[in-house]
Amino acid sequence: MIKKILKWTVIALAVVFVGMQAVRPARTNPPVDGARTLQSKMQVPSDIDAILKRSCYDCHSHETRWPWYSNVAPASWLLADHVSEGRGHMNFSDWAQYDTDDAEDLFEEIAKEVRKGAMPLSSYTLIHSDAKLTEEDKRRLIDWATSEHRRLKSLPD
Ligand code: HEC
Repeated sequence: MIKKILKWTVIALAVVFVGMQAVRPARTNPPVDGARTLQSKMQVPSDIDAILKRSCYDCHSHETRWPWYSNVAPASWLLADHVSEGRGHMNFSDWAQYDTDDAEDLFEEIAKEVRKGAMPLSSYTLIHSDAKLTEEDKRRLIDWATSEHRRLKSLPD
């Protein structure tokens, strides 16, 4: 009896799992226009550029490195969701969409999120341990974002 229940439970779960694979979120990497990127609009020192690309670009740019498990539901749903939400909040590949006020706010937010340890998301660094920020990375990112924030704030309106 128990064996039978177990068997049917496994079969049911397998069917559900296979069924879930039919719902495939779009894993897009829209083309990057070199004239719209953060680097084309702002001064980005090379050490900062490297930290951003390593720890933030998977969710905040069009240069997402989609891992193999992004093909497998339910991981695929979670990942696609994080990426589209991340890009919606801040997109380094399309920095040109932001005016000076927006950029000023984003630099302030970067410093804030990094100081809190809220970014990169912990669910992400659990798997991508190479994306974890060291204390030194954090200090550099915060210093850079704070000084860009101040520089933009001091510009005449
Ligand atoms: C795994 C995906 C992921 C990674 C990696 C990631 N973020 Fe995010 N980020 C998000 C999501 C999702 C949101 C929006 C929801 C939230 O705030 O939690 C967000 C929001 C933000 C915001 C708020 C923007 C606003 O609207 O004010 C900032 C700033 C930010 N992230 C900075 C960073 C920085 C800096 C890094 C790298 C050090 C980073 N993020 C890495 C997913 C990510």
